[in-house]
Amino acid sequence: MALRLIFLGPPGVGKGTQAKKVAADHSIPHISTGDILRAEVAAGTDLGRQAKQHMDSGGLVPDDLVVAMVARRLEQDDCRDGYLLDGFPRTMGQATALEAELARTGGAIDRVLYFRAPDDVLIRRLSGRRTCPDCGAGYHVEAMPPKVEGICDRCSAKLIQRDDDQPDTIRNRLDVYKAQTQELIDYYRAAGLLVEIDSTGSVDEIARAVVRALEP
Ligand code: AP5
Repeated sequence: MALRLIFLGPPGVGKGTQAKKVAADHSIPHISTGDILRAEVAAGTDLGRQAKQHMDSGGLVPDDLVVAMVARRLEQDDCRDGYLLDGFPRTMGQATALEAELARTGGAIDRVLYFRAPDDVLIRRLSGRRTCPDCGAGYHVEAMPPKVEGICDRCSAKLIQRDDDQPDTIRNRLDVYKAQTQELIDYYRAAGLLVEIDSTGSVDEIARAVVRALEP
C-alpha cells in the first residue's frame, strides 16, 4: 500500500536527517523541496535564479513556483507507491494545493510528523551543519563530525557550510517559520494526521520515536 508522509518542523530540527533513513527503510522517495531548489540554483535554471534571492535572505520561495515544482516531481513514476515530503507544504497555500493534487489523483496523506525543539537547539544545529556538495551526506561539527575534519567520510569531497546557515539568515528563517509555517500544525492536527516528535534528543533517540510514530 502507498505510504505518503509529510515531515514538518522548524529549520534545523533534523527533518532531513530522519527523512533520509525513513525513505530508505520504506523504499519511498525523499522529496526535499530545499534540496531540489538548491540543485536548481546550482544548475542556473530559470527557477533557480528566481528562487535564489528568497533562499539567500531566509524567506520562502513563492508558492506558485514551489507548487508547480512539487506537482512535476509527484508525477514521476517513483512516487506511485508513496513519498516522503520534507519541507513541503510550508504555507496554507501550499497545503491547499497539495490537497487539490491528491484529490485529483485519488491519494491521501497518511501521517504528518511534526518535529519540535527549542530555538537554542535549532540555532546550534544549523550553525554546526556541514554538507557534502557531491554526495549530499550531512554532518554536524559536534554531534556528527566526519572522521577527518572538513572531509566527507563517504566520498572524500570537501564539506561546505550552506549559505543560509549564517547567523542573520538563520534568525530570519526561524521568524519566517513562525509567521508562515507554524499554522500548518493546527491544520494537520485538526485533520487527525499530526504526530508530535520531541526532537531534542540524539539522532538515534529521535529515529526510535519516528519508528513508533509510523506504526500502523
Ligand atoms: P530547507 O532546505 O527545507 O531548509 P529548512 O526547512 O530550513 O530545514 P533544514 O534543511 O535547515 O533543517 P532540517 O530540519 O532538515 O535539519 P537537518 O536534518 O539538516 O529549505 C531551505 C530554503 O529553501 C528555505 O529557507 C526556503 O527559502 C526554500 N524552500 C524550501 N522549501 C520551500 C517551500 N516548500 N516553500 C517555499 N520555500 C521553500 O539537521 C540540521 C543539523 O543538525 C545537521 O548538521 C545535522 O547533522 C544535525 N542534527 C540532526 N539531528 C540532530 C540531533 N538529534 N542531535 C544533534 N544534531 C542533529
